[in-house]
Amino acid sequence: MKKRLAILLSGRGSNFVAIADSIRAGKLDAEIALVIANQSDAPGLAIARERGLNAVALLAKGFAREEREEYDRRLADEIEKNKTDLICLAGYMRLLSPEFVRRYPGKILNIHPSLLPAFPGLEVQQQALDHGVKFSGCTVHFVDEGLDSGPIIRQAVVPVLDGDTAELLAARIIQEEHRIYSEAIALVLSGNYRIDGRRVYES
Ligand code: GAR
Repeated sequence: MKKRLAILLSGRGSNFVAIADSIRAGKLDAEIALVIANQSDAPGLAIARERGLNAVALLAKGFAREEREEYDRRLADEIEKNKTDLICLAGYMRLLSPEFVRRYPGKILNIHPSLLPAFPGLEVQQQALDHGVKFSGCTVHFVDEGLDSGPIIRQAVVPVLDGDTAELLAARIIQEEHRIYSEAIALVLSGNYRIDGRRVYES
């Protein structure tokens, strides 16, 4: 049986589209069981609907910070109803509660547009430019209870060029994101890896 993915997103959804395209092209043996957005106007949600996928808007409005766990319980209900094997954060700009993360050990992946542990958080490309790094890139990692801090599965390096703006750098990085996210998902679904401390070894 095909492994079932839940994709969580908040915006444009280009990483989600890249994953869906990898599946369509036969490069990733999985199916997208569920796309959840925490914003009803997320373009990625509209694309998921156009593609005939099961797409759900789970609005965070009305859930104050202290109600994060309640929101995440609804998220987990939706995920469990759809019997998914792996949860992929694809531009999901909402922190997950520790309770949610503990519920799915080793079953949540995230993609982040920097070479972690450099530049976690937001406005990442601007952080990289402000720091003057010569290379940046992207990282796919397991999600733990910290911010962008779990064991690293895949990274790709992208040069920072003179004259780069945050937008130009982001455009170069996202191309690599689209490539490595599907590779990382395939690896995790295959089970051909082991985690030792912070290190992920392919076996
Ligand atoms: C991507 O660059 C992703 O790495 C980033 O948001 C963008 C979403 O683009 N995620 C984070 O910064 C999470 N910390 P997309 O909606 O087109 O996939």
